[in-house]
Amino acid sequence: MATLTNKRILLGVTGGIAAYKTPDLVRRLREAGAEVRCVMTRAAREFVTPLTLHAVSDHPVYTDLFGASATRELPTTSTDNAMEHIALARWADVVLIAPASADFLARLVHGRADDLLASLCLAAAGPLAVAPAMNRQMWAQPATQSNLTVLRERGVRILGPGDGSQACGETGSGRMLEPHELTALCAGLFETGELDGLNVLITAGPTWEAIDPVRGITNRSSGKMGYALAAAAAEAGARVTLISGPTALSDPDRVRTLRVTSAQDMHDAVHREISGIHIFIGVAAVADYRPSRIAAHKIKKTGEHLNLEFERTPDILASVAALPHPPFMVGFAAETENLEANARAKLLDKKLDLVAANPVGDAGAGFGDWTEPRAVGQGRPAYGFESDTNRLILLDRTGTTPLPAGTKPALARLLVHEIALRVRAAQSSRRTG
Ligand code: CTP
Repeated sequence: MATLTNKRILLGVTGGIAAYKTPDLVRRLREAGAEVRCVMTRAAREFVTPLTLHAVSDHPVYTDLFGASATRELPTTSTDNAMEHIALARWADVVLIAPASADFLARLVHGRADDLLASLCLAAAGPLAVAPAMNRQMWAQPATQSNLTVLRERGVRILGPGDGSQACGETGSGRMLEPHELTALCAGLFETGELDGLNVLITAGPTWEAIDPVRGITNRSSGKMGYALAAAAAEAGARVTLISGPTALSDPDRVRTLRVTSAQDMHDAVHREISGIHIFIGVAAVADYRPSRIAAHKIKKTGEHLNLEFERTPDILASVAALPHPPFMVGFAAETENLEANARAKLLDKKLDLVAANPVGDAGAGFGDWTEPRAVGQGRPAYGFESDTNRLILLDRTGTTPLPAGTKPALARLLVHEIALRVRAAQSSRRTG
């Protein structure tokens, strides 16, 4: 079943009697796993109160273009603090207008920016979906129909409307779809089908290398990026297996998740699972070294110093790339300096098809507007291991593609799209070659 886990839905409510169904819609979207923020037009507030939507979404409701409201909770860059609609538009994975009145559809067609909701529809980079709701005659009007044609041509997804009895006492087309139908259609917006029929294997998280029965060495990888990629690949239609080191995350929906501990366990699990895999993505922060021997009993403190000897762990990515018929190989590289040169060296040394380089510190200088770290949360790094946001630059044999900075789930979807383009191109060149 389609789900909305980790999706950020901005629900825009416009003025129409169907607005009374939006509290139920918010509840259902959240039950499906989405985080929901609501924006209301002035007319919408005649039908349902901001307080109600605040209560069911568990977030303040946005109503004003220039008013001070809840932007402080949102990840903002230094340049858009004062521009609420930009911050909101960037936050959203999808903007859903429900109900969308005839008037609002007309305003969308004309690109109006005279209230918060209309402005953020203009500023949104992601998908925009509308659920029209109006009297059947208003729906049938040539003006409304030609507006819908224009919106459809621009890529706006039109959800509904349904048929049936209307609040005005008439019967016909123009009813807003029911909240459960809208929730299912919303989940469908994320189903790209780009990886239909393909098997994907992903490693994620840290590894734990035991020193003795109670101690070990590990690293600060949270696993969020790898889990987000697994979810995005599943959403794109792939059959996904995730091999994860120890993390605090729950298994992503529709992903077969296998838990391992050490680099050696991860290596062995990968090679058990590799047959039939079309795409391998190594996101795990695998320990490069492990203690040469694991003490059978807890090491007691004795002298002032303790020396441990370490040995190399197997390089999982390189070992898969060295197979006679390797899958499409994607590696990750966190670099603090010489990003492009170091990441390109990994691409060639490990015989990869694509490297997703993660600039740490100043390593991203020169790659667009994403060098300025954002303040997200308190006391946590803005990018990388423990943060919810990330930035990536892709390198393959043909060049370099920086992805816009964003949340890990949003970046994961972009990366899956880039991988799908390359895998499909390779498949079709093999067919024609
Ligand atoms: N990787 C792996 N097995 C290892 C080590 C790393 O599969 N034993 C994978 C990671 O999942 C990641 C990529 O290799 O996709 C990282 O490359 P690597 O050269 O190991 O990066 P660093 O550890 O950062 O290397 P260095 O310290 O040399 O920069």
